[in-house]
Amino acid sequence: MPSFLSSRIDASAQASSAADWLALGLDQALEDALPELIQLRRHLHRHPELSGHEHQTAALVAGELRRLGWEVREGVGCTGVVAELGPAQAPVVALRVDLDALPVEERTGLPYASTVQGLMHACGHDLHTTLGLGVARLLAPLAGDLRARVRLLFQPAEETAQGARWMLADGAMEGVQALFGVHGFPSLAVGTIGVRSGSLTAAAGELEVEVIGEGGHGARPHQSTDAIWIAARVVSGLQEAISRRLDALHPVVVSFGRIEGGKAFNVIADHVRLLGTVRCLDPEVHALLPGWIEDTVVALCRGHGGEARVRYREIAPPVHNDPALTALVEGAARDLLGPGQVLRLEQPSLGAEDFAQLLSAAPGTMFRLGLAGPDGCTPLHSNTFALDEGALAVGLKVLTLSLLRWMEAGGLPAPEARR
Ligand code: NI
Repeated sequence: MPSFLSSRIDASAQASSAADWLALGLDQALEDALPELIQLRRHLHRHPELSGHEHQTAALVAGELRRLGWEVREGVGCTGVVAELGPAQAPVVALRVDLDALPVEERTGLPYASTVQGLMHACGHDLHTTLGLGVARLLAPLAGDLRARVRLLFQPAEETAQGARWMLADGAMEGVQALFGVHGFPSLAVGTIGVRSGSLTAAAGELEVEVIGEGGHGARPHQSTDAIWIAARVVSGLQEAISRRLDALHPVVVSFGRIEGGKAFNVIADHVRLLGTVRCLDPEVHALLPGWIEDTVVALCRGHGGEARVRYREIAPPVHNDPALTALVEGAARDLLGPGQVLRLEQPSLGAEDFAQLLSAAPGTMFRLGLAGPDGCTPLHSNTFALDEGALAVGLKVLTLSLLRWMEAGGLPAPEARR
């Protein structure tokens, strides 16, 4: 296997930065580590754990990190693990990966399929965890050379959008100056990554609307206040209000996924409950949305003789990728993978990612890691989701070199001074 930096070094051996030079030393280390890392990832895949219950996963992660010489704290934000390496007084650069699986019954037929009934790593967080451990392994021999304190955040409960908040509350982001993150992406080919400056994912919220009417006989609706009729007005009226009252340049999606109410075919319902999700990309619009939705829904209900109770729970703000850090990842990836393998994503996603919570404490960037093999890749969260394991080496290279380049650009002592 050729050196992953060989083309760059051949072209400009003298111009290669100290971080690249360090990365060159990592090439063999990566090749040596890969077989064990693949086994580790398969082990994690066999033993998925639900959000907030990642006890065995966290213990495995902590044990491996200690073995590698990292300073480890467990129980940071429930089952989170934080590990540090490098000079104590240096600036802190962090990498976040997630640990949890989903309540999905695996149907991949893989030899290392989940052994836990009803649970599956259907979002590839087993790969992310392995990437964190792989970075830990590659950086461990360089501890004396690191020009920043590297902090690894192994986060629980991403799927329920709780873990980032828990870790923040436990101080996991204290002192962090830059944060890197990664998520697998089935629509990109393995060997490629996708980057995007600015919005990467949407703000997401959970919306609950209770429509309160007054029951009566189905034959005489004029003597009652029909909550089902009003709920129908809410479902369609909210869509109309979005298109007429909000700026179309800042898209907002409201989707109701559950509706419940009524008792019998000939009884006017006095109560309907709607559950939905709200998505938008613009942080300012997102900040106004809960109040705007409540006012709109209450007005719609009152206009038809009913009342409304509206509850909005924020799931995550948008992930906003820092332009400079995104350019850093893009540069590292272009040098490692070739320019054609690094895609600038034109569109953000309306999915949500609680990495955004951590970005309230420091600038950061998350990139998309291609997962699709020659036959493509099934979607995230599906019971047949199976990624191409070639993504592991690609992700490790990009993450490790990004961290090293951040140190290089950090204005810390020149490499000559340390040798
Ligand atoms: Ni995920």
